[in-house]
Amino acid sequence: MLKTRIIATGSYAPKKRLTNFDIEKMVDTTDEWIIDRTGIKERRIAGKDEAASDLAYEASVIALRQAGLKAKDLELIIVATITGDMPFPSTACILQCRLDAKNAAAFDINATCSGFIYGLSIADGFIKSGMYKRILLVGAEVLTKFTDWEERTTCVLFGDGAGAVILEATEGESGVLSTHLHSDGSLGDLIKLPGGGSAHPPSKDTLRKGMHFIKMKGNETFKVAVKTLENLVIETLKKNNVKPSQLALLIPHQANLRIIQATAARLGMSMDKVMVNLERYGNTSAASIPIALDEAVRTGRVREDDYVLLEAFGGGLTWGSALIKW
Ligand code: ACO
Repeated sequence: MLKTRIIATGSYAPKKRLTNFDIEKMVDTTDEWIIDRTGIKERRIAGKDEAASDLAYEASVIALRQAGLKAKDLELIIVATITGDMPFPSTACILQCRLDAKNAAAFDINATCSGFIYGLSIADGFIKSGMYKRILLVGAEVLTKFTDWEERTTCVLFGDGAGAVILEATEGESGVLSTHLHSDGSLGDLIKLPGGGSAHPPSKDTLRKGMHFIKMKGNETFKVAVKTLENLVIETLKKNNVKPSQLALLIPHQANLRIIQATAARLGMSMDKVMVNLERYGNTSAASIPIALDEAVRTGRVREDDYVLLEAFGGGLTWGSALIKW
């Protein structure tokens, strides 16, 4: 039986740091409020000329180097992003060109913060079907370019970055054991970027109304996220007959420390078995899990045969998880 294995990881974040103290000077907020309500201390900000594909490129080059592969060895490139370079061509095609990955098909997916999990599930399906053997999956976001820097309820939350993994077909016990995807479009109003698409094409009016910025009903989203993720992690472990005590590491989407703590509590896991880096990056949407995974791998927090659980929740609404035997 074919399985999908993550054979290499890479990540990249822009150099510029924006601390909570910097944001204190921009809107009516405090470092204390932001840390208390979210856990975030600082986030990275892409430069004026840095687009999602630039961040994706840097992360991909690191992952390819770690895998000892050339870009021409790739058969498919999937980029999960809601802040792609432009509506089209896809950021995946722009990345394919920059990498000179001539043999790879390429496309983007939009599943907001769950994008990496959705991408992993799609890639896993391609690998299990035998269609592709080697896939580059990237989560890349520049959310700060779509952030209203006068709106304190959202501008403290987001950051920029990219994470990449190389996936390969393998036989044996290790690899992606299962993926679980869910959506609820009826709650799409909770988090959205309403302007710029065919419903509200860019115009002076959409600009004036601030429709090209991320809008979020934070508190309502928070409550749905906590409940949903608690059920999701239990569903994932049950499917694989794995007990929470067997998990070596939980790698959650990095949106809010309180959401992460609630999920860990539901699993009865102590926080030292949970990967948390949002204090340095904020919420990087589809990039958050692959960045955290890369850090976990590089710091030796993931070892062979470990059970690793990934989970995410985001706009759409979308949520999803993956259980991996490393
Ligand atoms: N500084 C100071 N006060 C603030 C700030 C701020 N930056 N932002 C809001 N407040 C105030 C509010 O105005 C409100 O004041 P009021 O009581 O006088 O009305 C008070 O703080 C409480 O506001 P809440 O929104 O209830 O605060 P909450 O504890 O819910 O925290 C937060 C807000 C951090 C946004 C939280 O709700 C959250 O993390 N939500 C989930 C986010 C998430 O998971 N999103 C999904 C992924 S994002 C994506 O898909 C792109």
